[in-house]
Parts: sequence; C-alpha cells; structure tokens
Amino acid sequence: MIIRSAFFAGSSASLKQCPSGSLPEFGFIGRSNVGKSSLINMLTGFKKLAKTSGDPGKTRTINHFLINGKWYLVDLPGYGYAKVPARLRDQWTKTAREYILKRENLACLFVLIDSRHKPQKPDIEFMEFLGKNQVPFARVFTKSDKVKQAALKRSIQHYDELMLCNWETLPVTFVSSAANKAGREEILSFIEETFNNLLKED
Ligand code: GTP
Ligand code: MG
Repeated sequence: MIIRSAFFAGSSASLKQCPSGSLPEFGFIGRSNVGKSSLINMLTGFKKLAKTSGDPGKTRTINHFLINGKWYLVDLPGYGYAKVPARLRDQWTKTAREYILKRENLACLFVLIDSRHKPQKPDIEFMEFLGKNQVPFARVFTKSDKVKQAALKRSIQHYDELMLCNWETLPVTFVSSAANKAGREEILSFIEETFNNLLKED
C-alpha cells in the first residue's frame, strides 16, 4: 500500500475526546519503550510524525494520525515500567483500557513485543485480556535489527508455546524493525486487507 498522506489528527486524554466519525483505526500498544511510536513513523515513512524517546513513558495520551484521509493509526501510551508516579501510570492504563474496550471503530490492535526479551508476564496477560474481551489483535516483534535470526526465532517460539496453553490458534504475527524497515510491507498489506474486508461488510 502507498502512504500518500499522514497527518496528526489530535491527542486525547480520554475516549470521549477521540475524533468523531467511524473511520477504521489501527492501534499500537505494548510496554513502554517497545517502539510503538517508532513503528508508526516507519510505516508511514514520516520520521517525525509520532514523538519517540529513549526514556520510557514518552507517549502519554491517545494520538490519532489520519492516513490517506481514510483510516487512522493510533499511538497509545505504553504499559509497564514507565518511570512515572503510579497514579499517573494507572491513569494511562485506564485511558488505554477504555479505548480498547469501547472504541467501536478499532479494526485491529497491534501488540508490540520486544524481540530481545524472554516472554514477559505483562505481555502475556495483556493478550489474554484482549482474547477474553474479543478484541482483534496481531503481534509485532519489534527491534529485530538488535537480535540474531536464531534468537528471534526462539523468542517467538517461547511466546507461541506459552500462548498455546490457553489459545487454540495463534494471532497473526509480524517481525519489525524501525531501523531497517523490516515488516513494513507485511504490516501495511495486512492493514489494507483488514480495511478492504471492513468495506465489504458494510
Ligand atoms: P513510549 O511512548 O515511552 O511508551 O515508548 P514507545 O513504545 O513509543 O517507543 P519509541 O518508539 O519512543 O522507541 C523507544 C526507543 O527505542 C527509542 O530510542 C527508539 O529509537 C528505539 N527503537 C524503536 N524501535 C526500534 C527498532 O526497531 N530498532 C532499534 N534499534 N531501535 C528502536
Ligand atoms: Mg511512544
């Protein structure tokens, strides 16, 4: 898919502030610092669209980016170890949770997982929460440029083994790198396909 335009469409501190209308949305979530904002920039080809940072906890609100005037990419606050007071962290978790459960035009949520680490409990638990609430999601293993191919394979296998204890099938899975653009075509094709399927349903 060709990205012709990408505009920042607003920053929302709660679900009710999010843009009105019913354009399909693709959300990005995962632990702080996993690379959500960087992936949005890589996918769109606009390097400074979403703000990134080496310090966890950069994205603190729901940020909408309008793509080709037809659908949104949505950058969500990270969960996990952000160096912020617990009260603030709880507020972001509440905001993201409300968005995930109630946003009717959320077409798919990309759950980002750092390729470098062993399976992390918050990630597994978060995906179980999505499953229980029937939220459509896909996994994206990020920062693949930082690991060797064999380690990446092992990392994904570990997640698969753990998830298959509770799931009959595994979610759609991508491998990405904001550094070398791995995964770009695959993720954009998936978005296009999901978007087209939604149009057929209408
Ligand atoms: P929060 O908004 O704090 O939750 O973080 P985030 O998930 O949006 O992460 P962000 O995109 O800000 O990236 C965090 C750090 O990881 C930055 O220093 C990025 O440059 C780096 N980073 C992100 N993706 C990649 C990647 O694919 N490869 C490499 N090598 N570094 C990456
Ligand atoms: Mg961010």
